[in-house]
Amino acid sequence: RPKAPALLPETGSLAALHAEEAACARCPLHADATQVVPGEGPPNAALMLVGEQPGDQEDLQGRPFVGPAGQLLDDILAQAGLDRRELFLTNAVKHFKFALKGRRRIHASPASGEIAACRWWLRQEIELVRPRLVVALGATAAESLTGSREGILKRRGTIEEGPEGLPVFLTVHPSFLLRLPDPVAREMETERFRQDLLAAREHL
Ligand code: URA
Repeated sequence: RPKAPALLPETGSLAALHAEEAACARCPLHADATQVVPGEGPPNAALMLVGEQPGDQEDLQGRPFVGPAGQLLDDILAQAGLDRRELFLTNAVKHFKFALKGRRRIHASPASGEIAACRWWLRQEIELVRPRLVVALGATAAESLTGSREGILKRRGTIEEGPEGLPVFLTVHPSFLLRLPDPVAREMETERFRQDLLAAREHL
């Protein structure tokens, strides 16, 4: 596929992109977050996983998927024969959005305008890494990558077209599994998620 040069930062590297992201003020979320959380992984990764936004731990550490959802994701990736270190992991929104509850920072869902503003960075990560397949974890990533806000549970397990015709495999977010109160439902949904990741791997 031909690259879209207009989207590339000057030096065309992930490090340069990270530096630009750190100065981002395209939406208000940078004001309250600790730091930007850029994508990470090999610059030539075949598979890119896109989450929603950094959580509390990610915001503090500056790395994606290092909190509870990330630990669950790591486990299930390993069970699906995928090694986190070989994947490019990133988020649709690169600053943590939260509401204060006492001293606790509670996750708040990004709005469409924030998702749209941050798509600028996700598109550049895609241009630089040029993965063969992108996996959208949950509704926010799906919205960013496909432009559609249709319910993710109806679409999960299917492939839709993303930026530049890139195939986007849709599935749920690992936090969805953590939030299920019923252990039986959680186990069933975790197995479905594992099957989705296996299916995504088959498409590589
Ligand atoms: N959830 C996400 O979507 N991304 C992270 O990096 C962590 C939790």
